[in-house]
Amino acid sequence: MRARALLLAAGLAGAGLLALVGMTRWSDLHAGAAPQSAPFSAGMITRGAYLAKVGDCAACHSVAGAAPFSGGLKMLTPIGAIYTSNITPDVRNGIGAYSLADFDRALRFGVASGHTLYPAMPYSAYSITAPADVAALYAYFMRGVAPDPAPNRDSEIPFPLSMRWPLTLWRWAFAPEPRAFSASNDARLSRGAYLVEGLGHCGDCHTARGPALQVRALGASGGPAYLAGAMIDGWHAPSLRNGDRTSIGAWSEMEIAAFLRSGNNRHGIAFASMNEVIVNSTQFLTEDDALAVARFLKSLNDPAGGAYVYDATASLALRRGDAGARGAQLYLDNCAACHRPDGRGYEGVFPALAGNPVLTSAPHDSVVRIILQGMRTPRTAAAPAQFTMPAFAWRLSDQDVADVATFVRASWGNQAPAVDAKAIARLRPKDQPTPNH
Ligand code: HEC
Ligand code: HEC
Ligand code: HEC
Repeated sequence: MRARALLLAAGLAGAGLLALVGMTRWSDLHAGAAPQSAPFSAGMITRGAYLAKVGDCAACHSVAGAAPFSGGLKMLTPIGAIYTSNITPDVRNGIGAYSLADFDRALRFGVASGHTLYPAMPYSAYSITAPADVAALYAYFMRGVAPDPAPNRDSEIPFPLSMRWPLTLWRWAFAPEPRAFSASNDARLSRGAYLVEGLGHCGDCHTARGPALQVRALGASGGPAYLAGAMIDGWHAPSLRNGDRTSIGAWSEMEIAAFLRSGNNRHGIAFASMNEVIVNSTQFLTEDDALAVARFLKSLNDPAGGAYVYDATASLALRRGDAGARGAQLYLDNCAACHRPDGRGYEGVFPALAGNPVLTSAPHDSVVRIILQGMRTPRTAAAPAQFTMPAFAWRLSDQDVADVATFVRASWGNQAPAVDAKAIARLRPKDQPTPNH
Protein backbone atom coordinates (compact mmCIF):
# COMPACT_ATOMS: atom_id res chain seq x y z
CA MET A 1 0.00 0.00 0.00
CA ARG A 2 2.67 2.39 1.14
CA ALA A 3 4.91 1.46 -1.74
CA ARG A 4 2.03 2.12 -4.10
CA ALA A 5 1.30 5.48 -2.56
CA LEU A 6 4.93 6.37 -2.86
CA LEU A 7 4.97 5.32 -6.46
CA LEU A 8 1.84 7.32 -7.13
CA ALA A 9 3.34 10.34 -5.39
CA ALA A 10 6.53 9.92 -7.35
CA GLY A 11 4.50 9.60 -10.51
CA LEU A 12 2.54 12.74 -9.76
CA ALA A 13 5.68 14.63 -8.86
CA GLY A 14 7.24 13.43 -12.07
CA ALA A 15 4.22 14.55 -14.06
CA GLY A 16 4.28 17.85 -12.23
CA LEU A 17 7.94 18.30 -13.00
CA LEU A 18 7.31 17.50 -16.64
CA ALA A 19 4.45 19.98 -16.70
CA LEU A 20 6.73 22.55 -15.13
CA VAL A 21 9.46 21.90 -17.67
CA GLY A 22 6.81 22.09 -20.35
CA MET A 23 5.60 25.37 -18.97
CA THR A 24 9.04 26.90 -18.74
CA ARG A 25 9.62 25.88 -22.31
CA TRP A 26 6.26 27.28 -23.37
CA SER A 27 6.87 30.56 -21.61
CA ASP A 28 10.32 30.57 -23.14
CA LEU A 29 8.74 30.43 -26.54
CA HIS A 30 6.34 33.16 -25.57
CA ALA A 31 9.06 35.47 -24.26
CA GLY A 32 7.62 38.98 -24.33
CA ALA A 33 4.73 37.92 -26.55
CA ALA A 34 1.35 39.47 -26.97
CA PRO A 35 1.30 38.72 -30.69
CA GLN A 36 -0.24 40.88 -33.41
CA SER A 37 -1.71 43.56 -31.16
CA ALA A 38 1.60 44.34 -29.46
CA PRO A 39 2.89 47.76 -30.45
CA PHE A 40 6.27 47.13 -32.04
CA SER A 41 8.71 49.95 -31.43
CA ALA A 42 10.48 51.51 -34.39
CA GLY A 43 13.79 50.51 -32.79
CA MET A 44 12.73 46.89 -32.68
CA ILE A 45 11.74 46.90 -36.36
CA THR A 46 15.05 48.50 -37.38
CA ARG A 47 16.95 45.98 -35.30
CA GLY A 48 14.93 43.16 -36.87
CA ALA A 49 15.76 44.48 -40.34
CA TYR A 50 19.47 44.33 -39.46
CA LEU A 51 19.14 40.79 -38.08
CA ALA A 52 17.30 39.70 -41.22
CA LYS A 53 20.38 40.87 -43.17
CA VAL A 54 22.70 38.99 -40.81
CA GLY A 55 20.53 35.87 -41.23
CA ASP A 56 20.41 36.42 -45.01
CA CYS A 57 16.69 35.56 -45.09
CA ALA A 58 16.45 37.26 -48.50
CA ALA A 59 18.94 34.80 -50.04
CA CYS A 60 16.28 32.10 -49.97
CA HIS A 61 12.98 33.89 -49.42
CA SER A 62 13.34 36.67 -52.04
CA VAL A 63 13.49 36.04 -55.77
CA ALA A 64 14.44 38.67 -58.38
CA GLY A 65 11.32 40.15 -59.98
CA ALA A 66 8.96 39.17 -57.15
CA ALA A 67 7.99 41.00 -53.94
CA PRO A 68 10.66 40.80 -51.20
CA PHE A 69 10.28 37.71 -49.00
CA SER A 70 7.40 36.30 -51.05
CA GLY A 71 9.32 33.01 -51.42
CA GLY A 72 9.23 30.68 -54.41
CA LEU A 73 12.97 30.03 -54.72
CA LYS A 74 13.51 26.54 -56.08
CA MET A 75 15.98 24.56 -53.97
CA LEU A 76 17.22 21.16 -55.03
CA THR A 77 17.34 18.31 -52.54
CA PRO A 78 18.48 14.77 -53.30
CA ILE A 79 14.85 13.61 -53.47
CA GLY A 80 13.37 16.47 -55.51
CA ALA A 81 12.97 20.23 -55.60
CA ILE A 82 11.32 22.26 -52.85
CA TYR A 83 10.26 25.91 -52.86
CA THR A 84 10.87 28.46 -50.14
CA SER A 85 7.86 29.88 -48.28
CA ASN A 86 6.21 33.26 -48.50
CA ILE A 87 7.26 34.92 -45.22
CA THR A 88 5.61 38.29 -45.83
CA PRO A 89 2.86 39.22 -43.33
CA ASP A 90 0.10 38.25 -45.80
CA VAL A 91 -2.52 36.53 -43.62
CA ARG A 92 -3.61 33.95 -46.17
CA ASN A 93 -0.41 32.86 -47.92
CA GLY A 94 2.33 34.40 -45.80
CA ILE A 95 3.01 34.34 -42.07
CA GLY A 96 0.57 37.14 -41.18
CA ALA A 97 -1.37 34.84 -38.86
CA TYR A 98 1.77 33.65 -37.04
CA SER A 99 2.09 34.51 -33.37
CA LEU A 100 5.56 35.24 -32.04
CA ALA A 101 5.59 31.67 -30.70
CA ASP A 102 4.74 30.27 -34.16
CA PHE A 103 7.49 32.36 -35.72
CA ASP A 104 9.97 31.26 -33.08
CA ARG A 105 9.07 27.61 -33.59
CA ALA A 106 9.75 27.89 -37.34
CA LEU A 107 12.93 29.93 -37.00
CA ARG A 108 14.64 28.09 -34.14
CA PHE A 109 13.03 24.68 -34.06
CA GLY A 110 12.10 24.01 -37.70
CA VAL A 111 8.40 23.42 -37.06
CA ALA A 112 5.65 25.31 -38.93
CA SER A 113 1.92 24.59 -38.83
CA GLY A 114 2.64 21.34 -36.99
CA HIS A 115 5.05 19.88 -39.54
CA THR A 116 8.84 19.79 -39.61
CA LEU A 117 10.51 22.01 -42.19
CA TYR A 118 13.13 20.77 -44.61
CA PRO A 119 16.57 21.52 -43.19
CA ALA A 120 17.24 23.66 -46.28
CA MET A 121 15.83 26.25 -43.88
CA PRO A 122 18.91 26.64 -41.63
CA TYR A 123 17.04 26.33 -38.34
CA SER A 124 19.70 24.15 -36.73
CA ALA A 125 22.02 27.17 -36.93
CA TYR A 126 19.31 29.74 -36.11
CA SER A 127 18.37 27.75 -32.99
CA ILE A 128 20.81 29.71 -30.80
CA THR A 129 19.20 33.07 -31.65
CA ALA A 130 18.45 35.05 -28.46
CA PRO A 131 14.71 35.47 -27.66
CA ALA A 132 15.03 39.28 -27.88
CA ASP A 133 16.47 38.92 -31.40
CA VAL A 134 13.70 36.51 -32.41
CA ALA A 135 11.18 39.11 -31.21
CA ALA A 136 12.94 41.86 -33.20
CA LEU A 137 12.92 39.70 -36.35
CA TYR A 138 9.24 39.02 -35.77
CA ALA A 139 8.54 42.75 -35.40
CA TYR A 140 10.35 43.38 -38.69
CA PHE A 141 8.50 40.69 -40.63
CA MET A 142 5.13 41.82 -39.24
CA ARG A 143 5.59 45.58 -39.62
CA GLY A 144 8.65 46.26 -41.79
CA VAL A 145 7.82 43.96 -44.72
CA ALA A 146 4.91 44.54 -47.11
CA PRO A 147 2.35 41.72 -47.30
CA ASP A 148 2.29 39.87 -50.62
CA PRO A 149 -0.31 37.28 -51.62
CA ALA A 150 1.99 34.96 -53.63
CA PRO A 151 0.81 31.41 -52.87
CA ASN A 152 3.28 28.83 -51.62
CA ARG A 153 4.29 26.18 -54.13
CA ASP A 154 4.17 22.48 -53.36
CA SER A 155 7.41 20.56 -53.46
CA GLU A 156 8.23 18.35 -56.44
CA ILE A 157 9.15 15.48 -54.15
CA PRO A 158 7.06 12.44 -55.14
CA PHE A 159 4.96 10.48 -52.66
CA PRO A 160 5.88 8.64 -50.41
CA LEU A 161 9.17 10.55 -50.08
CA SER A 162 7.11 13.72 -49.65
CA MET A 163 5.84 12.53 -46.27
CA ARG A 164 7.31 14.76 -43.61
CA TRP A 165 7.58 12.43 -40.63
CA PRO A 166 11.15 11.35 -41.48
CA LEU A 167 12.07 15.03 -41.26
CA THR A 168 10.91 14.95 -37.66
CA LEU A 169 13.25 12.05 -36.93
CA TRP A 170 16.02 13.97 -38.69
CA ARG A 171 15.28 16.98 -36.51
CA TRP A 172 15.40 14.93 -33.33
CA ALA A 173 18.70 13.37 -34.37
CA PHE A 174 20.55 16.33 -35.83
CA ALA A 175 19.09 19.55 -34.42
CA PRO A 176 19.66 19.04 -30.71
CA GLU A 177 17.83 21.40 -28.43
CA PRO A 178 18.52 23.26 -26.34
CA ARG A 179 21.83 24.18 -27.89
CA ALA A 180 24.12 26.91 -26.61
CA PHE A 181 26.64 28.84 -28.66
CA SER A 182 30.34 28.96 -27.78
CA ALA A 183 30.25 31.80 -25.27
CA SER A 184 33.43 33.06 -23.61
CA ASN A 185 34.65 35.87 -21.33
CA ASP A 186 35.74 37.98 -24.27
CA ALA A 187 32.61 39.91 -25.28
CA ARG A 188 33.74 40.38 -28.88
CA LEU A 189 34.60 36.70 -29.25
CA SER A 190 31.22 35.69 -27.81
CA ARG A 191 29.42 38.05 -30.16
CA GLY A 192 31.32 36.53 -33.08
CA ALA A 193 30.42 32.99 -32.03
CA TYR A 194 26.79 34.01 -31.71
CA LEU A 195 26.78 35.52 -35.22
CA VAL A 196 28.76 32.80 -37.02
CA GLU A 197 27.20 29.74 -35.36
CA GLY A 198 23.74 31.31 -35.36
CA LEU A 199 22.11 33.77 -37.75
CA GLY A 200 25.16 33.91 -40.05
CA HIS A 201 24.82 30.12 -40.60
CA CYS A 202 28.31 30.10 -42.13
CA GLY A 203 28.59 26.38 -41.33
CA ASP A 204 25.78 25.52 -43.74
CA CYS A 205 28.28 26.03 -46.57
CA HIS A 206 31.72 25.91 -44.91
CA THR A 207 31.25 22.71 -42.85
CA ALA A 208 31.17 19.28 -44.50
CA ARG A 209 27.96 17.24 -44.31
CA GLY A 210 27.46 13.70 -43.14
CA PRO A 211 25.51 10.85 -44.77
CA ALA A 212 22.11 12.22 -43.70
CA LEU A 213 23.15 15.63 -45.10
CA GLN A 214 23.52 16.93 -41.55
CA VAL A 215 26.19 19.55 -41.00
CA ARG A 216 28.99 17.63 -39.25
CA ALA A 217 29.54 20.20 -36.49
CA LEU A 218 27.19 23.01 -35.50
CA GLY A 219 29.75 25.06 -33.59
CA ALA A 220 33.28 25.38 -32.27
CA SER A 221 32.51 22.77 -29.60
CA GLY A 222 31.77 20.28 -32.40
CA GLY A 223 35.50 19.86 -33.04
CA PRO A 224 37.86 20.40 -35.98
CA ALA A 225 35.24 19.58 -38.64
CA TYR A 226 33.52 22.89 -37.88
CA LEU A 227 34.11 25.36 -40.76
CA ALA A 228 36.92 23.17 -42.07
CA GLY A 229 35.76 23.66 -45.68
CA ALA A 230 33.21 21.88 -47.87
CA MET A 231 31.91 21.57 -51.40
CA ILE A 232 28.74 23.56 -52.05
CA ASP A 233 26.95 23.48 -55.42
CA GLY A 234 30.13 22.49 -57.24
CA TRP A 235 32.34 25.15 -55.62
CA HIS A 236 34.72 24.74 -52.73
CA ALA A 237 34.01 26.92 -49.70
CA PRO A 238 37.47 27.02 -48.07
CA SER A 239 38.30 26.38 -44.44
CA LEU A 240 37.56 29.39 -42.24
CA ARG A 241 39.66 28.00 -39.41
CA ASN A 242 42.84 29.64 -38.22
CA GLY A 243 44.91 26.85 -39.69
CA ASP A 244 47.69 26.21 -42.16
CA ARG A 245 48.37 27.49 -45.68
CA THR A 246 45.14 25.97 -47.00
CA SER A 247 42.92 28.21 -44.84
CA ILE A 248 42.55 31.87 -43.97
CA GLY A 249 45.13 31.45 -41.19
CA ALA A 250 47.30 34.20 -42.70
CA TRP A 251 44.44 36.73 -42.75
CA SER A 252 44.34 39.30 -39.92
CA GLU A 253 41.08 40.12 -38.13
CA MET A 254 40.96 43.44 -40.02
CA GLU A 255 41.45 41.67 -43.35
CA ILE A 256 38.69 39.14 -42.65
CA ALA A 257 36.33 41.95 -41.62
CA ALA A 258 37.22 43.92 -44.78
CA PHE A 259 36.51 40.87 -46.97
CA LEU A 260 33.08 40.42 -45.38
CA ARG A 261 32.16 44.11 -45.72
CA SER A 262 33.60 44.83 -49.19
CA GLY A 263 34.09 41.46 -50.90
CA ASN A 264 37.87 41.77 -51.23
CA ASN A 265 41.17 42.18 -49.45
CA ARG A 266 44.82 41.75 -50.42
CA HIS A 267 44.46 37.94 -50.33
CA GLY A 268 41.52 37.48 -52.69
CA ILE A 269 38.14 38.55 -54.02
CA ALA A 270 34.84 36.78 -53.32
CA PHE A 271 33.09 34.73 -55.99
CA ALA A 272 30.36 32.13 -56.54
CA SER A 273 27.77 31.91 -53.75
CA MET A 274 30.01 33.92 -51.38
CA ASN A 275 29.31 36.89 -53.68
CA GLU A 276 25.64 36.70 -52.81
CA VAL A 277 26.36 36.17 -49.12
CA ILE A 278 28.41 39.37 -49.15
CA VAL A 279 26.05 41.42 -51.31
CA ASN A 280 22.88 40.40 -49.41
CA SER A 281 24.25 39.94 -45.93
CA THR A 282 27.78 40.50 -44.64
CA GLN A 283 28.39 43.90 -46.31
CA PHE A 284 25.75 45.23 -43.91
CA LEU A 285 27.54 43.99 -40.79
CA THR A 286 28.52 46.87 -38.54
CA GLU A 287 32.28 47.21 -38.22
CA ASP A 288 32.05 45.85 -34.67
CA ASP A 289 30.08 42.79 -35.75
CA ALA A 290 32.41 42.10 -38.70
CA LEU A 291 35.40 42.27 -36.36
CA ALA A 292 33.58 40.01 -33.90
CA VAL A 293 33.05 37.42 -36.67
CA ALA A 294 36.75 37.72 -37.54
CA ARG A 295 37.89 37.27 -33.95
CA PHE A 296 35.78 34.15 -33.59
CA LEU A 297 37.20 32.64 -36.81
CA LYS A 298 40.73 33.38 -35.58
CA SER A 299 39.90 31.52 -32.36
CA LEU A 300 39.26 28.26 -34.25
CA ASN A 301 42.83 27.15 -33.89
CA ASP A 302 44.16 24.08 -35.63
CA PRO A 303 47.46 22.50 -34.70
CA ALA A 304 49.96 24.43 -36.81
CA GLY A 305 50.42 22.83 -40.19
CA GLY A 306 52.98 25.12 -42.07
CA ALA A 307 51.93 28.64 -42.65
CA TYR A 308 52.01 30.09 -46.16
CA VAL A 309 55.30 31.71 -47.16
CA TYR A 310 55.75 33.56 -50.47
CA ASP A 311 58.27 31.87 -52.78
CA ALA A 312 59.73 34.02 -55.61
CA THR A 313 61.05 31.12 -57.75
CA ALA A 314 58.18 31.12 -60.28
CA SER A 315 58.08 34.87 -60.60
CA LEU A 316 61.87 35.13 -61.11
CA ALA A 317 61.75 32.41 -63.77
CA LEU A 318 58.98 34.19 -65.67
CA ARG A 319 60.90 37.45 -65.47
CA ARG A 320 64.00 35.72 -66.95
CA GLY A 321 61.80 34.56 -69.83
CA ASP A 322 61.93 30.96 -68.61
CA ALA A 323 58.46 29.50 -69.11
CA GLY A 324 59.56 25.89 -68.90
CA ALA A 325 57.34 24.91 -65.98
CA ARG A 326 54.12 23.09 -66.81
CA GLY A 327 51.48 25.71 -67.64
CA ALA A 328 53.85 28.69 -67.31
CA GLN A 329 53.56 29.82 -70.94
CA LEU A 330 49.77 29.55 -70.80
CA TYR A 331 49.86 31.67 -67.65
CA LEU A 332 51.96 34.36 -69.34
CA ASP A 333 49.72 34.40 -72.42
CA ASN A 334 46.34 34.34 -70.69
CA CYS A 335 46.55 35.42 -67.08
CA ALA A 336 49.64 37.43 -66.19
CA ALA A 337 48.30 40.73 -67.54
CA CYS A 338 45.79 40.80 -64.71
CA HIS A 339 47.18 38.56 -61.99
CA ARG A 340 50.79 39.66 -62.71
CA PRO A 341 53.83 37.41 -63.15
CA ASP A 342 54.48 37.57 -59.40
CA GLY A 343 50.94 36.27 -58.70
CA ARG A 344 50.17 39.22 -56.45
CA GLY A 345 47.49 40.84 -58.61
CA TYR A 346 46.15 44.32 -57.87
CA GLU A 347 44.32 44.55 -54.55
CA GLY A 348 40.58 44.99 -54.92
CA VAL A 349 40.77 44.72 -58.74
CA PHE A 350 42.51 41.48 -59.79
CA PRO A 351 42.93 39.09 -56.87
CA ALA A 352 46.27 37.74 -55.71
CA LEU A 353 46.74 34.10 -56.64
CA ALA A 354 49.82 33.75 -54.42
CA GLY A 355 48.78 32.42 -51.02
CA ASN A 356 45.08 32.63 -51.89
CA PRO A 357 43.36 29.77 -49.97
CA VAL A 358 41.19 29.16 -53.03
CA LEU A 359 44.34 27.95 -54.77
CA THR A 360 46.13 26.36 -51.88
CA SER A 361 43.33 24.03 -50.72
CA ALA A 362 43.15 20.58 -52.26
CA PRO A 363 39.86 20.59 -54.24
CA HIS A 364 40.56 22.08 -57.66
CA ASP A 365 36.90 22.62 -58.59
CA SER A 366 36.75 26.35 -57.87
CA VAL A 367 39.96 27.18 -59.71
CA VAL A 368 39.02 25.12 -62.76
CA ARG A 369 35.47 26.42 -62.88
CA ILE A 370 36.51 30.04 -62.56
CA ILE A 371 39.01 29.60 -65.42
CA LEU A 372 36.35 27.94 -67.59
CA GLN A 373 33.39 30.22 -66.93
CA GLY A 374 34.94 33.46 -65.64
CA MET A 375 33.46 35.51 -62.81
CA ARG A 376 32.40 39.02 -61.83
CA THR A 377 33.42 40.60 -58.54
CA PRO A 378 30.58 41.40 -56.10
CA ARG A 379 29.21 44.96 -56.07
CA THR A 380 29.11 46.33 -52.52
CA ALA A 381 28.76 49.80 -51.03
CA ALA A 382 32.43 49.63 -50.02
CA ALA A 383 33.58 48.39 -53.47
CA PRO A 384 31.04 49.60 -56.02
CA ALA A 385 33.18 49.04 -59.16
CA GLN A 386 32.96 45.52 -60.61
CA PHE A 387 35.78 43.72 -62.42
CA THR A 388 35.48 40.72 -64.66
CA MET A 389 37.54 37.60 -65.07
CA PRO A 390 36.96 36.41 -68.67
CA ALA A 391 35.75 32.86 -69.42
CA PHE A 392 38.35 30.63 -71.06
CA ALA A 393 36.14 27.60 -71.82
CA TRP A 394 36.04 28.37 -75.55
CA ARG A 395 39.75 29.21 -75.77
CA LEU A 396 41.55 26.58 -73.69
CA SER A 397 41.46 22.80 -74.13
CA ASP A 398 41.06 20.45 -71.17
CA GLN A 399 44.83 19.92 -71.23
CA ASP A 400 45.51 23.69 -71.25
CA VAL A 401 43.15 24.30 -68.36
CA ALA A 402 44.72 21.47 -66.36
CA ASP A 403 48.21 22.81 -67.10
CA VAL A 404 47.53 26.44 -66.20
CA ALA A 405 45.57 25.38 -63.09
CA THR A 406 48.51 23.21 -62.07
CA PHE A 407 50.86 26.16 -62.55
CA VAL A 408 48.90 28.60 -60.39
CA ARG A 409 48.35 25.96 -57.70
CA ALA A 410 52.08 25.19 -57.46
CA SER A 411 53.71 28.62 -57.87
CA TRP A 412 54.66 31.47 -55.50
CA GLY A 413 54.60 29.17 -52.46
CA ASN A 414 51.20 27.59 -53.26
CA GLN A 415 51.48 23.84 -52.77
CA ALA A 416 48.29 22.22 -54.09
CA PRO A 417 48.45 19.00 -56.13
CA ALA A 418 48.60 18.97 -59.96
CA VAL A 419 45.33 18.85 -61.92
CA ASP A 420 44.66 16.05 -64.43
CA ALA A 421 43.16 16.92 -67.86
CA LYS A 422 40.59 14.14 -67.31
CA ALA A 423 39.15 16.12 -64.40
CA ILE A 424 38.21 19.11 -66.56
CA ALA A 425 35.40 17.92 -68.87
CA ARG A 426 32.78 17.44 -66.14
CA LEU A 427 33.40 20.99 -64.92
CA ARG A 428 32.83 22.62 -68.30
CA PRO A 429 29.70 24.77 -68.51
CA LYS A 430 27.15 22.87 -70.62
CA ASP A 431 26.50 25.80 -72.99
CA GLN A 432 30.08 26.49 -74.00
CA PRO A 433 31.83 24.45 -76.71
CA THR A 434 35.20 22.80 -76.08
CA PRO A 435 37.99 23.94 -78.42
CA ASN A 436 39.44 20.96 -80.30
CA HIS A 437 43.14 21.53 -80.39
C1 HEC B 1 19.27 28.65 -47.13
C2 HEC B 1 17.90 29.00 -47.40
C3 HEC B 1 17.07 29.69 -46.33
C4 HEC B 1 17.43 30.76 -45.55
C5 HEC B 1 18.75 31.50 -45.51
C6 HEC B 1 16.25 31.09 -44.76
N1 HEC B 1 15.23 30.24 -45.04
FE1 HEC B 1 13.39 30.23 -44.15
N2 HEC B 1 12.88 28.59 -45.28
C7 HEC B 1 13.66 28.00 -46.24
C8 HEC B 1 12.92 26.91 -46.85
C9 HEC B 1 13.42 26.00 -47.96
C10 HEC B 1 11.67 26.87 -46.21
C11 HEC B 1 10.53 25.90 -46.48
C12 HEC B 1 10.86 24.58 -45.89
C13 HEC B 1 9.75 23.57 -46.04
O1 HEC B 1 8.82 23.80 -46.83
O2 HEC B 1 9.81 22.57 -45.33
C14 HEC B 1 11.68 27.94 -45.20
C15 HEC B 1 10.63 28.21 -44.33
C16 HEC B 1 10.58 29.27 -43.45
C17 HEC B 1 9.47 29.56 -42.57
C18 HEC B 1 8.22 28.74 -42.43
C19 HEC B 1 7.10 29.35 -43.24
C20 HEC B 1 5.96 28.39 -43.42
O3 HEC B 1 4.93 28.59 -42.80
O4 HEC B 1 6.14 27.46 -44.22
C21 HEC B 1 9.79 30.72 -41.88
C22 HEC B 1 8.94 31.45 -40.86
C23 HEC B 1 11.10 31.12 -42.34
N3 HEC B 1 11.57 30.23 -43.28
C24 HEC B 1 11.74 32.25 -41.90
C25 HEC B 1 13.06 32.58 -42.23
C26 HEC B 1 13.78 33.71 -41.69
C27 HEC B 1 13.18 34.73 -40.72
C28 HEC B 1 15.03 33.67 -42.21
C29 HEC B 1 16.21 34.57 -41.92
C30 HEC B 1 16.56 34.73 -40.51
C31 HEC B 1 15.09 32.51 -43.11
N4 HEC B 1 13.88 31.89 -43.09
C32 HEC B 1 16.21 32.13 -43.85
C33 HEC B 1 14.94 28.35 -46.59
C34 HEC B 1 15.69 29.37 -46.00
C1 HEC C 1 25.77 29.91 -49.47
C2 HEC C 1 27.03 29.36 -49.07
C3 HEC C 1 27.92 30.18 -48.16
C4 HEC C 1 27.62 30.75 -46.95
C5 HEC C 1 26.28 30.74 -46.22
C6 HEC C 1 28.82 31.36 -46.48
N1 HEC C 1 29.84 31.18 -47.38
FE1 HEC C 1 31.72 31.94 -47.23
N2 HEC C 1 32.19 31.12 -49.04
C7 HEC C 1 31.36 30.34 -49.82
C8 HEC C 1 32.08 29.93 -51.02
C9 HEC C 1 31.51 29.07 -52.15
C10 HEC C 1 33.36 30.49 -50.94
C11 HEC C 1 34.49 30.35 -51.98
C12 HEC C 1 34.52 31.54 -52.88
C13 HEC C 1 35.29 32.70 -52.34
O1 HEC C 1 36.43 32.53 -51.85
O2 HEC C 1 34.75 33.82 -52.36
C14 HEC C 1 33.40 31.24 -49.69
C15 HEC C 1 34.50 31.99 -49.23
C16 HEC C 1 34.57 32.65 -48.02
C17 HEC C 1 35.73 33.37 -47.56
C18 HEC C 1 37.01 33.54 -48.34
C19 HEC C 1 37.85 32.35 -48.09
C20 HEC C 1 39.01 32.27 -49.01
O3 HEC C 1 39.85 31.43 -48.71
O4 HEC C 1 39.09 32.98 -50.01
C21 HEC C 1 35.43 33.86 -46.32
C22 HEC C 1 36.34 34.68 -45.41
C23 HEC C 1 34.09 33.45 -46.01
N3 HEC C 1 33.59 32.71 -47.07
C24 HEC C 1 33.44 33.73 -44.82
C25 HEC C 1 32.12 33.39 -44.57
C26 HEC C 1 31.43 33.75 -43.35
C27 HEC C 1 32.04 34.47 -42.17
C28 HEC C 1 30.15 33.28 -43.49
C29 HEC C 1 28.99 33.44 -42.53
C30 HEC C 1 28.67 34.81 -42.16
C31 HEC C 1 30.06 32.62 -44.79
N4 HEC C 1 31.27 32.71 -45.41
C32 HEC C 1 28.91 32.05 -45.28
C33 HEC C 1 30.05 30.02 -49.54
C34 HEC C 1 29.33 30.45 -48.42
C1 HEC D 1 41.07 40.54 -67.51
C2 HEC D 1 41.69 40.21 -66.26
C3 HEC D 1 41.84 38.74 -65.92
C4 HEC D 1 42.45 37.74 -66.63
C5 HEC D 1 43.06 37.81 -68.01
C6 HEC D 1 42.39 36.56 -65.79
N1 HEC D 1 41.77 36.86 -64.62
FE1 HEC D 1 41.54 35.59 -63.06
N2 HEC D 1 40.40 36.98 -62.11
C7 HEC D 1 40.14 38.25 -62.56
C8 HEC D 1 39.20 38.90 -61.67
C9 HEC D 1 38.62 40.28 -61.80
C10 HEC D 1 38.90 37.95 -60.67
C11 HEC D 1 37.95 38.11 -59.48
C12 HEC D 1 36.64 37.42 -59.80
C13 HEC D 1 35.74 37.39 -58.60
O1 HEC D 1 36.25 37.29 -57.49
O2 HEC D 1 34.51 37.43 -58.78
C14 HEC D 1 39.69 36.76 -60.97
C15 HEC D 1 39.71 35.63 -60.18
C16 HEC D 1 40.51 34.54 -60.38
C17 HEC D 1 40.63 33.42 -59.48
C18 HEC D 1 39.89 33.27 -58.14
C19 HEC D 1 40.65 33.98 -57.05
C20 HEC D 1 39.83 34.92 -56.22
O3 HEC D 1 40.19 35.18 -55.04
O4 HEC D 1 38.80 35.45 -56.69
C21 HEC D 1 41.50 32.53 -60.06
C22 HEC D 1 41.94 31.20 -59.50
C23 HEC D 1 41.91 33.10 -61.31
N3 HEC D 1 41.29 34.32 -61.46
C24 HEC D 1 42.80 32.52 -62.20
C25 HEC D 1 43.06 33.00 -63.46
C26 HEC D 1 43.80 32.27 -64.46
C27 HEC D 1 44.44 30.91 -64.24
C28 HEC D 1 43.81 33.04 -65.58
C29 HEC D 1 44.38 32.70 -66.92
C30 HEC D 1 43.89 31.48 -67.55
C31 HEC D 1 43.10 34.27 -65.27
N4 HEC D 1 42.65 34.20 -63.98
C32 HEC D 1 42.93 35.33 -66.15
C33 HEC D 1 40.69 38.83 -63.68
C34 HEC D 1 41.39 38.17 -64.67
